[in-house]
Amino acid sequence: MGATGKAIRTARAADPCVMAIFGGAGDLTKRKLAPALYNLAHHGLLASQFAIVGVAMDDYDDESFRARLTEAVQSHGGVFEPDEWARLRRNCFYVRGKFDDAATYQKVAERIAAAAKASGAPGNALYYLATPPQFFGTIATHLGTASLVKPVGDAGGWSRLVVEKPFGRDLASAQALNRQLLAAFDETQIFRIDHYLGKETVQNILMFRFLNGIFEPIWNRRYVDHVQILVAETLGVEGRGAYYDTAGALRDILQNHMFQLLCLVAMEPPVSFEAEDVRNEKVKVLHAIRRLKDEEVLQQTVRGQYGSGAIEGHDVPAYRAEPSVDPTSSIDTYAAMKLYVENWRWADVPFYLRTGKRLAKHDTEIVIQFRRAPLTLLPGECGQQPNRLVIHIQPDERISLSFQAKVPGPVLQLAPVELQFSYRDLGEDTGATGYETLIYDCMIGDSTQFHRADMVEEAWKVVTPVLDVWQALQPRDFPNYPAGSWGPTAADALLERDGRQWVVAV
Ligand code: BG6
Repeated sequence: MGATGKAIRTARAADPCVMAIFGGAGDLTKRKLAPALYNLAHHGLLASQFAIVGVAMDDYDDESFRARLTEAVQSHGGVFEPDEWARLRRNCFYVRGKFDDAATYQKVAERIAAAAKASGAPGNALYYLATPPQFFGTIATHLGTASLVKPVGDAGGWSRLVVEKPFGRDLASAQALNRQLLAAFDETQIFRIDHYLGKETVQNILMFRFLNGIFEPIWNRRYVDHVQILVAETLGVEGRGAYYDTAGALRDILQNHMFQLLCLVAMEPPVSFEAEDVRNEKVKVLHAIRRLKDEEVLQQTVRGQYGSGAIEGHDVPAYRAEPSVDPTSSIDTYAAMKLYVENWRWADVPFYLRTGKRLAKHDTEIVIQFRRAPLTLLPGECGQQPNRLVIHIQPDERISLSFQAKVPGPVLQLAPVELQFSYRDLGEDTGATGYETLIYDCMIGDSTQFHRADMVEEAWKVVTPVLDVWQALQPRDFPNYPAGSWGPTAADALLERDGRQWVVAV
């Protein structure tokens, strides 16, 4: 926070607890969770009474698990102070076992009790599911059966469950998973994580909209022509072909991360920044999205899959040639969609969403395009450029407002210019993994930035009809965009039919 900034949250250390990480020997723990925990400790935000219990099938013991975490923190974190890490390291423990074996949970219970004793942590337990999704429900059920879940308000401490994505693969599976989790945990104990909500620039959208009065009067259908949300990746499937080939872009990014961005842009002002007030407003947005009928799916959505091409001058293979991908796969690596949020604020304002892998540029941004001036007083093309507010989320972190200005000189000429705020001007969060805030929030029990059961289900209600039509009508033209391009031409046509264009990321 800058010199004039006001710290709203007091920087207290999180509640003491034992964090049991299911999938503790996996990639997420290595790249994100361990470095994030260290970063929290470094900033004084982790309780000194804290311990980690890693749970997985891999062959580790306490010592080799600690060595793995040490390596993870050194290579994926920011600053590294050996003494500081040493204090955390000695409170790391490991349980080897299968997630579907009751005996594993007896061992987990024993290790948690021992870890709590060694670290001085009271009876608080944070269970983090960093496993493949097929284990989410199983682990929750076993935790309940093994009496590892304390009821809400228990004097002996709290129990909380953090669930990674993907949360279901359609409406029915998400509902089934919710039922399974809710049989063991109370909704207030469940934290469905979405790492996009941990991004500083995403969290800033709420602050930008609701702590500044000047935009609110024009943030509606009277002034906004349309909204575009872009999540463009240059990366391919990065060794995750087996998972991705069962998911696709619509499930992997659009249904969760992009719908959260949509909610933040479209929601009404909450009555407070308390978790339920914020989440109640978000779920109303999802509920208000007009469901697409079968024929509308054909008109309002576009899917794509990349062929071979070049990214930043390097040749890259087609999706179907990626490891662990079916060579005849018809999964989408690109998805675009036109949606309407049917409420008084947004009626008839289209929201255009597009995401894809192996696109021309890594860029996540939200474009609010305002209506043109009601009357053009100048001839020709002069004065035709609409105003745009662009929230650049990553890798560029800034907000820009475009308008037109007169070019100096006797000839009347206009040029588009921008007012800019660069997020870095407020200071840099060096070495942050994006998980720090989210883990901290779980430890203090703040669920504002997490999906609630009804939010996940509403999001699936929008997307499932699209998946059904896509499944029934297999694509005939895949691959339909080369790696390194901006996606299939049909996505351009989607906007052209409305007399609009995708705003090209610059
Ligand atoms: C994950 C997806 O949720 O988000 C990945 O599973 C994707 O496929 C990633 O690459 C993108 O996240 P970020 O933070 O790099 O935009």
